[in-house]
Amino acid sequence: MTFLSQTLSRVKPSPTIAVTTMAAELKAAGRDVIGLGAGEPDFDTPDNIKEAAIAAIHAGKTKYTPPDGIPELKAAICAKLERENGLTYTPKQISVGTGGKQTLYNALMATLNPGDEVIIPAPYWVSYPDMVLLAGGTPAPVAATLENAFKITPEQLESAITPKTKWFIFNSPSTPTGAGYSRDELKGLTDVLMKHPHVWVMSDDMYEHLAYDGFEFCTPAQVEPGLYDRTLTCNGVSKAYAMTGWRIGYAAGPEPVIAAMRKVQSQSTSNPCSVSQWAAVEALNGTQEFLASNNAIFKRRRDLVVSMLSEIEGVTCPVPEGAFYVYPSIAGLIGKTSKSGVKIDNDEAFAKALLEETGVAVVFGAAFGLSPNFRVSYATSDENLKQACSRIQDFCAGLG
Ligand SMILES: Cc1ncc(COP(=O)(O)O)c(C=O)c1O
Repeated sequence: MTFLSQTLSRVKPSPTIAVTTMAAELKAAGRDVIGLGAGEPDFDTPDNIKEAAIAAIHAGKTKYTPPDGIPELKAAICAKLERENGLTYTPKQISVGTGGKQTLYNALMATLNPGDEVIIPAPYWVSYPDMVLLAGGTPAPVAATLENAFKITPEQLESAITPKTKWFIFNSPSTPTGAGYSRDELKGLTDVLMKHPHVWVMSDDMYEHLAYDGFEFCTPAQVEPGLYDRTLTCNGVSKAYAMTGWRIGYAAGPEPVIAAMRKVQSQSTSNPCSVSQWAAVEALNGTQEFLASNNAIFKRRRDLVVSMLSEIEGVTCPVPEGAFYVYPSIAGLIGKTSKSGVKIDNDEAFAKALLEETGVAVVFGAAFGLSPNFRVSYATSDENLKQACSRIQDFCAGLG
């Protein structure tokens, strides 16, 4: 339809939201559906955070705020970055947005010009390439293969950099694979970036707190202080604090970029929800005790899913370091046919047949830029996971 913008014709709707919607529709129609598509914890927001929001409402903190965040939240973010990441920022270097998604989007809108390239390790969070396209840039995916534990190598990064490269987007622990870079692995990448002063780093640390087996989280500006002046350290409260619906994310970086992001936000959405901002102050300043108990549950679920999926012939399921996803390969199943006669030509056909024949909703790998795989979110109950994995086992065993 010519009425719609040409920019929009380059992007696609979020496939993860599409899978979640399809699963909800089947459920509403009476089907027994287990959704493993959603990227959000099944835990409730901790009570202390809810109480802070209720207190903010009663105190009348329900008006416009500065466009990119209240001073109290910016101070809490600076304290968090110092305490947990050893990074020193002032409030002028902080931007708070409506979810991590908006801060990343603002940064790309504020910096990209036509022809600018953005290096994105693939598989990637579905929104990165489309946000780059919306902002007029060109995504440059680099394959992070199963053989390399879903991580890119310094050599791959080196050869992906061109004179047009503007950003390198880094996400660890990552979606969709859960892969996390060790300090040494990250240092290998930052050493390459030090040789290319025109390349900036957008580090999406959204899954920082969701890491298992002693994995030590690290972020680029911490590992290589020489990158501080060209790094945007992005994070949010959505995943670790079970606050996906509250919509608070933030970024820390050089003042001119933060000011440009403020301009984008002030002419689009203005401030993120005032009440959510007060809830986020409590999330960052209050007790962090529940993080360890939530992680123990996530780790147990990860181990359950990995062990059940690894039993399937034709499926390879590496053990991820963090987040709440696994990203098994189905290379050994391609070319087979399902009981109802669907040819499994690719991972999209696999996910569609799996949903239709067993009621298990997963997201197909092509959506994330690396096939043939599928993403399982294990942010649901042990019972659901056992039932879903056993249905996946039966479905795969029935392929001929
Ligand atoms: C890697 C990554 N970054 C950012 C986000 C966005 O988080 P938010 O819900 O705070 O917008 C997500 C959500 O799925 C994510 O997976």
